[in-house]
Amino acid sequence: MPNRYPLPLILLHWLILPLMVGAFILGEVMEDLPRGDGRMSVMGWHILAGLSMAALLVPRLVIRLRGVPPLAAATSALELWLARLAHLGLYAVMLVLPATGLGSILAGKRTVSVLGLFDLPSLASLPWLHEAMEEIHEGAAKLFLLLLALHVAAALWHALIRRDGIFRRILP
Ligand code: HEM
Ligand code: HEM
Repeated sequence: MPNRYPLPLILLHWLILPLMVGAFILGEVMEDLPRGDGRMSVMGWHILAGLSMAALLVPRLVIRLRGVPPLAAATSALELWLARLAHLGLYAVMLVLPATGLGSILAGKRTVSVLGLFDLPSLASLPWLHEAMEEIHEGAAKLFLLLLALHVAAALWHALIRRDGIFRRILP
């Protein structure tokens, strides 16, 4: 049976899942709401989920960069590269989403209060930067959905059809 990932990485993988999916759903809900208190409160939860994910991403990257067990010997070169590419893409969106979300607020017109807990200020009102950050944020969110769909399909294929133990690598 292929080696498992280190336990802390496994726990971080499953903790980050609801935060990423939650932030995505809240982001979509928020986009459809008219400006006002309701929208600001959904945005607050959206930001809280996104920033919590970013906090968990730091130890995850540290563990990951120290090296992980190699994939199963039976895995073909093509599968190996597809998996690496998908994992790299998932890490990229996990980094880019909080960075551009925060960037769009810091380059925005006004301070954003996060559920009255703390404020994210406008450092400089730069409309072009604000717009660019928003565009990249939206694009990265779409890319996340696509990569997640491929990732889950691959995981199910390994678990149900190939039954090669790859899925168990990420189970505690
Ligand atoms: C971490 C995972 C995150 C995901 C998956 C995510 C996803 C999304 C989505 C789907 C939208 C709606 C985009 C659209 O359809 O136009 C959105 C908007 C937004 N997000 Fe995030 N987001 C994340 C993190 C963050 C963080 C950490 C912040 C701020 C610190 C943030 C700030 C914003 C803002 C200000 C908008 C509104 C932008 C606009 O008006 O177009 N996001 N996000
Ligand atoms: C229901 C949802 C999910 C399932 C069933 C799932 C399943 C798996 C499986 C089976 C592996 C092990 C693959 C291998 O041995 O190489 C894995 C690894 C991985 N998954 Fe997921 N996953 C899910 C959600 C997510 C999400 C939301 C993200 C990131 C946003 C993610 C990012 C990763 C990454 C980057 C790896 C490689 C190991 C690491 O560096 O942490 N997964 N996942």
